[in-house]
This record gives sequence, structure tokens and C-alpha cells, in this order.
Amino acid sequence: MVLDWIHVGSAEEIQREGPKVKGGIAVFAHEDEFYAVENRCPHMGFPLHMGSLCDGILTCHWHHARFDVCSGGTLDPFADDVPAHQVKVEQGEVWVDPRPKQKKDIQKHILRLKEGLQQDISLVIAKSVIALVEAGVSEAEIAKVGVEYGTTQRSGGWSSGLTILTAMINVLPKLDSYGRILALFHGLTHVARDCAGRAPRHMLQPLPDADLSLERLATWYRQCVEVRDAQGAERVLLAAIEKGVEMTALAEMMLVAVTDHFYLDGGHIFDFHNKAFEVLTYTGEEQTGCVLTSLVPQMACANRSEELQNWQFPVNLVTPLREAFQTLSEITDVGHEEAADLDEEQFVNQVLSDRPMETVQAITHALKNGVSSARIAQLVALAAAERIMRFHVQNDFGDWIAVLHTFTNAHAVHVSLQREANPLTVRAIYYSAMRIYLDRFLNIPSAPRPNVNKTPNPQYSTDTKQLLELLDQRQQVADAATWVAHYLKNSGDMEALWNALGHALLREDAEFHSFQMYEATVGEYERYASDDRPIAARAKETLLFALTRYLAAHAPTARELPHVARIAWRLQRGERLFEEQ
Ligand code: FES
Repeated sequence: MVLDWIHVGSAEEIQREGPKVKGGIAVFAHEDEFYAVENRCPHMGFPLHMGSLCDGILTCHWHHARFDVCSGGTLDPFADDVPAHQVKVEQGEVWVDPRPKQKKDIQKHILRLKEGLQQDISLVIAKSVIALVEAGVSEAEIAKVGVEYGTTQRSGGWSSGLTILTAMINVLPKLDSYGRILALFHGLTHVARDCAGRAPRHMLQPLPDADLSLERLATWYRQCVEVRDAQGAERVLLAAIEKGVEMTALAEMMLVAVTDHFYLDGGHIFDFHNKAFEVLTYTGEEQTGCVLTSLVPQMACANRSEELQNWQFPVNLVTPLREAFQTLSEITDVGHEEAADLDEEQFVNQVLSDRPMETVQAITHALKNGVSSARIAQLVALAAAERIMRFHVQNDFGDWIAVLHTFTNAHAVHVSLQREANPLTVRAIYYSAMRIYLDRFLNIPSAPRPNVNKTPNPQYSTDTKQLLELLDQRQQVADAATWVAHYLKNSGDMEALWNALGHALLREDAEFHSFQMYEATVGEYERYASDDRPIAARAKETLLFALTRYLAAHAPTARELPHVARIAWRLQRGERLFEEQ
């Protein structure tokens, strides 16, 4: 459709009375010329005709962003360029072209997203995400921009922000359209924060082309990690990637090195590795080098739990584990799909017990009996979720993170072993189980399990808004879990519940661990979805109660980031933010 030029008024009138607004466009007389820009400041929508125009610079009066009145280009990166329009004067009358001079295409939005990441400006990131989603760009493509930035622009390598971004991509199917935007926005904003003020990471070159077997490279990689030689490990890893080694083999090579020492950095290193391999399934293998090498700096300097006092005293967990590991080589296949005979409830109770040596034996026994390592890891993750469900609020508040770490690590081990099981990477199961043992006092006293069969509070409905209202108040840990128990008994709509729990997370200034909690719960729950074993129904409830309690304990917050996203959303819709407009 061809849009007609808009008649604005007489030139003399605009010169005499000041800027005039027609069709949402502000027309200015300035230095014997006429200029027109959209009458909404691209920052937060202030009407620009109320700004000041001096020396060709139009200044918005809300946050003082400046614009070249001719091109609309901004001098302040926190604002975007404002669309400028052509103006013509005919027989003393001023006309404006309603079509902006600049075209906004997808590439410009991507560049703007990169600027938002570089400048660490959350509003710019939010606007770019919304514009890209609305332009039909896939979420994976949007995330890819963040992954490339986060893995190359931070000297320390992989970060919690990249973990959040990956976790949020994983859970997108559980969220409505606005929730999906929020999820991407949170992930990208955390990537930007992690990189702000950091030196970029300069990748090394792979070892020169040589006839090296994967086995040899894997050995060298382990040796480099063992002596904390990050640069050597990076070159060896790049050589394996250059050689075209398959992703599963790369994962195996790296995870064997990760499990050579106990529970690196409180379980984060294993978790980060798992997330890195997950993100590559979305962004494509072209990012393999920058993603995988970003894991190396942290891994090389990670703290090794066998050196920690609580793994050695008063109960020495290190020696029995090392002895158990010596027998793992006898197991040739740890990747069976079918579970052999195992009393799963009893196994979970054993992991939760205060008898760690028996737990070590139970894991080894199950592996030798042909139970798949992934199945054992799944049960260990369930035990870790049980710790969170039973976490008593009289504990130190910071201890929520202790039980959370164990659960997210156990989840990562489960997912990784589903991807590829190796007799050495199964050592990670033992580490998770021992950490569950070490967390045992966080369940003493133990919080009661919500009872789905108990007569519910008559005021509870199955409208998920009620859950969100409950989480508007502080410390509704027990009530929120009881509400979910009531919901599970009276409504089978899991889609609505996941979405509500997702919004309970995303409407907050959630901290790293809350994102991990939501994603790990979704991941574990999904793996029980079509499971008809006796343990499955109870496991799903446990997972939901654990998540709800964790989110309730960490809400509400100031909700600053979601407010930024809401501003960007309203701006995109042309809503007014400035009250007096
Ligand atoms: S600078 Fe114009 S609305 Fe903020």
C-alpha cells in the first residue's frame, strides 16, 4: 500500500509556534530547515516534540538521550536510533512522508542485540529479543548470538550466564509466548553481566595436523587437566575438534577428565560441561570450538573435593570411593537401557541414609548387576530432589543453595549418562551420592511431605494465578507446596502448572540457582513422563514439591529485570509509558 504524504501545517505556523505532531510524527523547524522524527523516544517512549532542539541535536527530556534530528541517529547507546522521516515544503505548506527513511531489518536487530550485550544494557537486549522474535527469528538463532558472545568475550570462559541461557532454551516448550521472551531475555542479560568489564578470551590454535589417535589425544587431555595446564588442554581439545571427532566422543573425553577428581567446584564443572554439550544441539556444531574450549580455564583451576576436609573427616569418603573405582573397569557395559532387578525405592532411601559405605556398595552392586548407569543416576537425582523437598526452613537460608547444587549436579550426571556412558564417567554418580550424604543434616528436622490426599484449604482453587499470588508474599514455602498438592489432586493440567511455575521464576530477579532449579526439575520430571514404574508417580510429585518450595523461598524480589522486559514489550506494542502524553 502506498501511503500518502501527511499535511502537517504551514511552514510559517511551525516556525512561529514550535514543533507540530501529525500521525505520530513530530515536525520541527530548525536552522531554516524542517525535520521530522517519530514522536516517541525509542528509549522509553517520551514524546520528542517536548524535547529540546539545539545545534541539530534533539534531546529527549526524560533521560536526556540525544539524536541527530536529520538522521534520527542517537549519540547515546542506551537509546535506539529514532525513525526519521522526509519532509517537503510546497507553496508554504509542510508535508511529511509517513514511511521512515531507515529500514529495520533482521540484521539490524541482531547488531543491536550484540550492542546490548557489549554495553550490558538490559533494555536494549529486551527490545532486540522482542523485535527478533516478532520478526520470526528462531529462539535458537537468537540464543546463538549470546553463546558466541559469552564464550569469546570472557577471559574466564564458560559462566553461570551461559548456563542460565542454555537452561532457558531447554525449558522454552514449557512457557507461553511472553514467558519464552522473558526466558531468552534473562539468559542473555546474565551473559552480558558475566562479560561486562572482562577481558575477551583469545583462543589458541589446535596442534598442527598430525596423525594422532583419539585415544592419544584423550590421554594428553587428561594429563593436561591433571596438572592444571589449561593451555595444553585447549590445544589438545582443539586438535580433537579439528580432527572431526564426534560430539559423543568429545563429551566422553572431557567428562572422563572432569571425573578424574571428585566433585569439581561443588559439582558446577560437571554441570557446565553438560550444559555446553546441550547448547551445541541448538546452536550447531560450528560453535563447537569456542563453546568447548570455554570450559577449560575453569576446569583446570577447579577445586577438587577429595582435598576438602568434609570429604575426609570425620568419615573418610575418599578411600572407599577410590577402591570402588578400581572395580569399575570390570564392568564392560554401563549403558544398558533396561533396568535389571532393583528395588528403586529402597535404593533411593539408601542414598538418603547416613550410611555412605553401604551407598557406595549399592551403586557398585547395581552397576555390576546390569542396571544402566543412567537409571542409577536418575534415582540419585531423585534422592537429591527429596533433600530439597525435605529441607527445613529453620536451616540457614544460604543452605538452600547447598541442596540445590547437589540436585542440579545429579541431574547433569543423569543427562550426560543418557547421552553417553563410560565406565569412568560413572564415577560422577558416586560423587553426587556422597554429596547427598554430606547434606543429610539439612533434612534434620525434616520438612513434612505435602499430602495430596489431605483435605485442602477450602480457599484453594485450581487457578494458577492463585499460586502466583501466594508467591507474591515472602516465605510461603509450605503453603505453596500444599497448594501444588491440592492442584495435582484436582487438576491434571500440567501445561498450565509448568507455565505458572516458569512465570514464578521469570517475573523475579532470579538468581542463577533458581534458573537451574526450574530447568533441572523440568528435565527430571520429563524423564518420568511416560514411565509406569511404581516410583514414577511419587517421583514426579517430589520434583514438583521441591521446585515449588525452592521458588517460594526465593520470592518475591524487586523484579527489576522483568520490569525492564515489560517496558520493552509495551514499547513494541506502541503503548504509552509516559503518563502525561
Ligand atoms: S531518554 Fe527519552 S524516554 Fe528516556
